[in-house]
Amino acid sequence: MALFEFEDNSLFLGTVREVDTRKVSILVKTDENLRKARVGQLVCLQVASGVETWLIGLVDKVIKSVISSPIETIKENTDEDKHSPNEGTGEDVVNTVRLTLLGTTRWSAFLHSATFSRSLVQVPDIEAQCYALQDKQLESFMNILSASGDKEQSLALGTYTIDDSATAYLDGNKFFQRHAAILGSTGSGKSWTVASLLERTAKLPTSNMVVFDLHGEYRKLSYARHIRIPGPEELGKSSEELLYLPYWLLNADEMQAMFIDSSEFSAHNQVMAFQNAVIDEKKAVLTELNKNEVLNAFTLDSPIPFSIQKVIHKLTDLNEEMTQGARGLKQGNFFGQFSRLLTRLHSKLSDKRYGFLFHAPESEHQYDSMAAMIYKLMDYKSDKSQIKVIDFSEVPSDILPIIVGLVARIIYQVQFWTDHEKRRPLVMVCDEAHLYLPKKEGKNPVEQRAIESFEKIAKEGRKYGVALLIVSQRPSDVSSTVLSQCNNVIALRLTNGSDQATVKKLMPESLESLLDVLPIMDIGEALVVGDSVLLPSRIKISEPLEKPLSATIDFWSEWQKGAEKPDYVRAVENMRKQGRG
Ligand SMILES: Nc1ncnc2c1ncn2[C@@H]1O[C@H](COP(=O)(O)OP(=O)(O)OP(=O)(O)O)[C@@H](O)[C@H]1O
Ligand SMILES: [Mg+2]
Repeated sequence: MALFEFEDNSLFLGTVREVDTRKVSILVKTDENLRKARVGQLVCLQVASGVETWLIGLVDKVIKSVISSPIETIKENTDEDKHSPNEGTGEDVVNTVRLTLLGTTRWSAFLHSATFSRSLVQVPDIEAQCYALQDKQLESFMNILSASGDKEQSLALGTYTIDDSATAYLDGNKFFQRHAAILGSTGSGKSWTVASLLERTAKLPTSNMVVFDLHGEYRKLSYARHIRIPGPEELGKSSEELLYLPYWLLNADEMQAMFIDSSEFSAHNQVMAFQNAVIDEKKAVLTELNKNEVLNAFTLDSPIPFSIQKVIHKLTDLNEEMTQGARGLKQGNFFGQFSRLLTRLHSKLSDKRYGFLFHAPESEHQYDSMAAMIYKLMDYKSDKSQIKVIDFSEVPSDILPIIVGLVARIIYQVQFWTDHEKRRPLVMVCDEAHLYLPKKEGKNPVEQRAIESFEKIAKEGRKYGVALLIVSQRPSDVSSTVLSQCNNVIALRLTNGSDQATVKKLMPESLESLLDVLPIMDIGEALVVGDSVLLPSRIKISEPLEKPLSATIDFWSEWQKGAEKPDYVRAVENMRKQGRG
């Protein structure tokens, strides 16, 4: 069976003149042949030794250069390429097509079908023939691609730009195994791509995804479970939809970052006294509940409910302690050392923005309430629970990194401590990641801790079945530790130079030239690169059936409509009470 037929030579481009592993130069004899080559087009090259084996390449550059110097000065590697010398003028025209090899396609007699693989069985020989893949030949190649992708683990993402009749599949296993990223300028179609992926994921019976939704864009998706962090107005209420994160979930580092100013002279004493008080309180609770096993092994980091008020009392006592000395009462060892710590504790506790930490209803402070919370976040068995959307839209931006980081850390740790056989893979979708996953430099200690939680997941999550899907419009602002761990990238239109450079760094060097199309792609069109796609390719992402609520506002049209009187009084009140309710 012939894979490709080029008998009439109408698609013949030229012959191989230079090979540098994946980069190949083709010498094209005539201008007519050169016109068949376009940047971004697929070509195939004959392999001399293999029966029905073709190398597939992608055109990077099409060059027609006129060399007007005498023959002796023509550069070494082009002097034999001179073609159609313009007699009398001393001009030579050299036509070259540069391409990057992408893989090999071949007919397998055993499988009785054609397959495509990213490996190169061999590099092309000098003088090997190169043909453009167009029309029927392109169609048969795209069929091979789609057929190779259409397996159980495949995830249909859209259609190929070069042939919109061919479905583009991702390998769903490989896509999530080693983290992935969806990057693109604002309005390029990231949220729609996420919704498209969510829609397909929700169809699997026990899939498990947690979406960090910063603008409430996904709050209407009918197939998802919706959870939100309570705003100041909702504090004290308890409901299935509200997610409190009681302060005792914080680990030692997070607590220290939140309450202790490490630049203070007495910082060391503060840490020690605070930690001792917390340990004592946790111990008291465990003793009362008869949790002997935990009592013997727990640490300061263990999430065990305790009363922060009692800790404050204890510190206040130490801060004001007077002891009996030889000549009457004297100040205790820690007298006055905790004044600032206590002020900071009080101010955090009374700050309504931190209400989800310090003002959870009593029901959330029970020993068993943490497990209930985890079911809310990580359950995949009950109705509509495969996709969990956490709405952070009511959370002020300055504390966003702390909360998102805390949720991510808790999910990761629960997954870590789940028995190996019972562990189910889980994906965290981090939309607008630049807002809470920025580069660490210059951030305050609390934010740094939050970013570190994600960095740890990026580095170690794979082993425990936790993957990140990073979504951002400013890849150059996102922590590079996290981004560099993303093995698959869906790059939508990206116009900013430094963002393009960041994306380029994530790609293997041989594919860099592909990225030149980043600024000129259409909305919803993406360049998908990584081990989950058979071929790094431009894909038109399918529209999700249920759209996210991210619709771009049409300024001009809106201004043409009549509108009610503006209610800024209410907006100002909302701003004061930090809630839109
Ligand atoms: N696959 C697609 N097909 C057709 N139109 C699309 C597609 N994806 C996005 N769009 C259009 O682009 C608009 C913006 O898309 P989207 O909200 O996904 O952008 P975004 O990249 O998430 O932007 P932001 O960074 O601001 O969140 C959509 O409202 C829709 O009209
Ligand atoms: Mg978006």
